[in-house]
Amino acid sequence: MRERVHVDLAERSYDIEIGPGLLTVAGRLIRPLLSRNFVAVITDETVADLHLDTLRAGLASEGIEMVSLALPAGESTKSWPHFTRAVEWLLEQKVERNDMVVALGGGVIGDLVGFAAAVLRRGVRFVQVPTTLLAQVDSSVGGKTGINAPQGKNLIGAFHQPSLVLADTDVLGTLTERDYLAGYGEVMKYGLLGDIDFFQWLEGNASRAAAGDMEARIAAVKRSCEMKAEIVARDETEQGDRALLNLGHTFCHSLEAATGYSDRLLHGEGVAIGCALAFEVSARMGLCSQEDPSRVRAHLNDMKMKTDLADIAGDLPNSEGLIDLMMQDKKVKDGKINFIMARGIGEAFVTSDVDLALVRQVLDEQLAAKG
Ligand code: GLY
Repeated sequence: MRERVHVDLAERSYDIEIGPGLLTVAGRLIRPLLSRNFVAVITDETVADLHLDTLRAGLASEGIEMVSLALPAGESTKSWPHFTRAVEWLLEQKVERNDMVVALGGGVIGDLVGFAAAVLRRGVRFVQVPTTLLAQVDSSVGGKTGINAPQGKNLIGAFHQPSLVLADTDVLGTLTERDYLAGYGEVMKYGLLGDIDFFQWLEGNASRAAAGDMEARIAAVKRSCEMKAEIVARDETEQGDRALLNLGHTFCHSLEAATGYSDRLLHGEGVAIGCALAFEVSARMGLCSQEDPSRVRAHLNDMKMKTDLADIAGDLPNSEGLIDLMMQDKKVKDGKINFIMARGIGEAFVTSDVDLALVRQVLDEQLAAKG
């Protein structure tokens, strides 16, 4: 039950291995890439307790020595102080230019460790071992690395592709239901942005995957990674098509900012609500039929996921306040917000030509329903 997706980027190409039990065979998979039998692993304290011993044993079975650093878990780790700690620790461990760094964790660890690898000795190679669904289908693939600035999320970073991604689907069994479903927001996004057949498959099978069916989980991760790999191969540094991966994210980022990046709203939950909003606005603009947003929301309801602004606990700013927060988005160009809209399910496109009055109307309706 092992799948492989290739990310085709000329000399920066790499494989994504997907399946159960990969941590236990990590040594066999990583060894061909090593110049000596040594890796430096950076993880977080939660993941270390759950998975570090399994990874250590998997490496030791191939005679690979491992040193490790566990940073605190959570978004605040994606910051200069922890980044400095990571880089200086790698230097203390005498990690050489040809050595391999391993990022074991979710998106925070993958982004921070990838960025540390990008700048250490002007660039060392690294392996992503993503331990959340969100990291397996999105953040570990495609080479976006970085940390947050006080001015905003992901504002400091570099493109640095990993040399290998090991998406061990067994580790998804250690996620809370909420974290799994938040990651699922990014899985669903792929169907919505470019593959109606995948979305239809998810309508029939995503509940089975969420309940733990391994075959369904592997298929969902594989198709998501294939779609991301295709888009990244076309547009590695987001000059065009890669922005499609941001479906739902303009709305999501403003909602995350409005909720203080707290656990009132997890990133993937914001993506799911943002996708539903993007389809609603697309329908109001006459781009797609009204059945499309209804179908998206019905699927989110089936998955028992947050669907509307009403599902976010606590107060939110009014529609003007939310639109102001959208204007802070990295994707604002010449004062215009770049939205990802859709001509139908699986047919997303990038445009700055969106009537903000319609966006305001949709937000106002949902805020009124929130009471
Ligand atoms: N997560 C969006 C991207 O990798 O481009």
